[in-house]
Amino acid sequence: MKKIGCIGCGNMGGGVLKGLVPHDFELLGHDHTRAKVEGIGPEGRVTFVETPLELAQRSDIVILAVKPYQMEAMLEEIRPALDESKVVVSLAAAFSQEKLRLGVENRCPVVRCMPNLPVVVGKGVFALCFDDPSLDKAAADELLTMFRLMGIAVVLPEAQFPAFSSLVGCGPAFVLLFMEGLLNAGITMGLKAGVSRELIAAMVEGTARLALESGESFADLRVKVCSPSGTTIRGVNHMERCAVPGHVTDAVLEALKRDQEMAAGK
Ligand SMILES: NC(=O)c1ccc[n+]([C@@H]2O[C@H](COP(=O)([O-])OP(=O)(O)OC[C@H]3O[C@@H](n4cnc5c(N)ncnc54)[C@H](OP(=O)(O)O)[C@@H]3O)[C@@H](O)[C@H]2O)c1
Repeated sequence: MKKIGCIGCGNMGGGVLKGLVPHDFELLGHDHTRAKVEGIGPEGRVTFVETPLELAQRSDIVILAVKPYQMEAMLEEIRPALDESKVVVSLAAAFSQEKLRLGVENRCPVVRCMPNLPVVVGKGVFALCFDDPSLDKAAADELLTMFRLMGIAVVLPEAQFPAFSSLVGCGPAFVLLFMEGLLNAGITMGLKAGVSRELIAAMVEGTARLALESGESFADLRVKVCSPSGTTIRGVNHMERCAVPGHVTDAVLEALKRDQEMAAGK
């Protein structure tokens, strides 16, 4: 059975291990906080390993889910355990494949993966970068299959990672901020907070499902909700006057700028 180890079991690392719990893998985790690892699945499902080095020794696939500024030190710590039988998968934003390869000193193949927060409910959207020539096709296919157990996974060249990261990695925060605005409206109109929250989340989920399944453009679907002289068009007109779509675009482009700064070590 493949051994999947994860170092850093916070939002992302914990989410990925949780997503793999129902599947046929041996799961190992390491974190500063032992309880974060042991709380991921049913008791005993994810084994807590005392050190990053031991985790790397015991794993076939080593997932690194610490913060980007912690990556260099972590790669140095696990390096003695790495050889060509293993693959290091990094979830860190703005940490390049070149830095990864330097960090592992070419001892094993490296893969960049960009996840997003819905991985914790099995609805992650992942980008995987298989640009490392030392990664063979069988290993790449295996990783793609594994990440597809936790949502949707696409293969992208590294050059497109900043765009993916700004749009899909950061995206849940942008959508949630929009949902906060809807929640305030619901409460203002007299709906209870808990009821509003549930209705808004279900409405957003349903709208996303409709967009995915219909294949129609977002604009065409929106027009279907806007009856002539109706309520929705009044709200849409207000959003257009406030330039909401343009501001959303700019928010993503701001995230992209920060990604570029981080990649440059700022
Ligand atoms: N959050 C997102 O939506 C998102 C999206 C895409 C990519 N990412 C990437 O995913 C990575 C993880 O982000 P996250 O949001 O999951 O962060 P997080 O919740 O802070 O999780 C990181 C975990 O790693 C632990 N850790 C750090 N250094 C360690 C060490 N040397 N030994 C043991 N444990 C260590 C931290 O423990 P302490 O807290 O005790 O230090 C924490 O529990 C980042 O590189 C980020 O760029 C995140």
